[in-house]
Amino acid sequence: MPEPFDVVEAYNRYVITSCVSKVEPVVVKSGSGATITDLNGKEYVDCFSGISVVNVGHCNPKVVEAAKNQLDRLIHACAYVYYLEPVARLSEKLAQITPGELKKSFFSNSGAEAIECGLKLARKFTKKHEIIALMRSFHGRTFGTLSVTGQSGRRSYSMGPYLGSVAFAPTPYCYRCPLGLEYPNCGIQCAKMLEDVIRYSTSNNVAAFIAEPLLGEGGIIVPPNEYFEEAKKILEQYGILFVADEVQTGFARTGKLFAIEHYGVTPDVMCFAKAIAAGLPLGACTTRREIADIFEPGDHLSTFGGNPVSCAAALANIEYIQEQDLASRASKQGEYVMQRLDELKEKHQLIGDVRGKGLMIGMELVKDRETKEAAASETVKIRELCRQKGVLVGHGGTLGNVLRIQPPLVISQSQLDTAIEAIDQSLSEVK
Ligand SMILES: Cc1ncc(COP(=O)(O)O)c(C=O)c1O
Repeated sequence: MPEPFDVVEAYNRYVITSCVSKVEPVVVKSGSGATITDLNGKEYVDCFSGISVVNVGHCNPKVVEAAKNQLDRLIHACAYVYYLEPVARLSEKLAQITPGELKKSFFSNSGAEAIECGLKLARKFTKKHEIIALMRSFHGRTFGTLSVTGQSGRRSYSMGPYLGSVAFAPTPYCYRCPLGLEYPNCGIQCAKMLEDVIRYSTSNNVAAFIAEPLLGEGGIIVPPNEYFEEAKKILEQYGILFVADEVQTGFARTGKLFAIEHYGVTPDVMCFAKAIAAGLPLGACTTRREIADIFEPGDHLSTFGGNPVSCAAALANIEYIQEQDLASRASKQGEYVMQRLDELKEKHQLIGDVRGKGLMIGMELVKDRETKEAAASETVKIRELCRQKGVLVGHGGTLGNVLRIQPPLVISQSQLDTAIEAIDQSLSEVK
């Protein structure tokens, strides 16, 4: 008999996990739809989707079939050395589904790389080098993307220095307005402040403004409706490109195919990853032709970017999202969940705010509704209690006090009810 293999023990010995506060104590064996099964056969309702990745459900059969077919044909040749059909088809699809004149894509392996590509293009196209990003934003873990990430907690001093030439604008965060104002009487000052940031925090050499349409890691922060329209006006005045980071919000998560569509503006560059290929690694940076064509030979490349298996999976994934109209489904289910969670406010004083769009929902927990003191340890505990009840939720926010509900968009009504019930009970137990 071979020795039983202890996954957790092997992790502790051989996997670098010092970079996370903890790995959730679930050894995942398989996933299907919105269900995750552990090594002991225990089933969980997955409300985190591997950080907002498997929007079409775990091991979606259409995606699996497309990936398997491609595996039998070709796994790798390099999309930038030879012509590959899945790459051509996927880029054509992205040109069709993205707003405006965004027609050409560069493929990478991850979200951070997609952003790197967007920032390089913006700098080269505008011949300017500064970047403006949002406080509390998150854009990735490479030096470039950490440099535009507005969270000191993720930019440890001992790993720096980071890129200079980055200025940060106030977060459009109505629950904790950094300007102390209240929506809608605020006049969207947070967007208007962009002009001050350009004029007083940069040398007016700004290539791009990068923002997530909804801030994910920052705590599911939903900018007010007028925010991006106001922002875009100012950006256009100063010849600054708008790079929309749709890495976490893309592919129907928020009730539209892309979250920026809620705001009625067209970005100059859009960056994707996570849900683009339902779990296979892939990132994409999509932009207008004149911006795309500014690269010269040698400016950019990726060995694995545009891997044909990932691209074939992505194409099947997008077709599935469209066929099943998962955006409308996310929108309806999201409204239901937010209403149910809102109702829990009466019962649980810990709930400070419930917000989101579609199935990208955050519940911000506070010790006191007046002072809004963050209830960070309670949030960790509730996540743990939910897990014990068979429901996996996420956790985030710059203050560590936001429960994140981002399930696969194919989640059933009864699974959603199970999740809400578990959150309700856990909130009662944590008191
Ligand atoms: C908005 C956003 N941008 C970029 C990234 C980085 O993506 P990746 O981890 O694939 O590099 C993330 C990851 O969480 C993200 O949420």
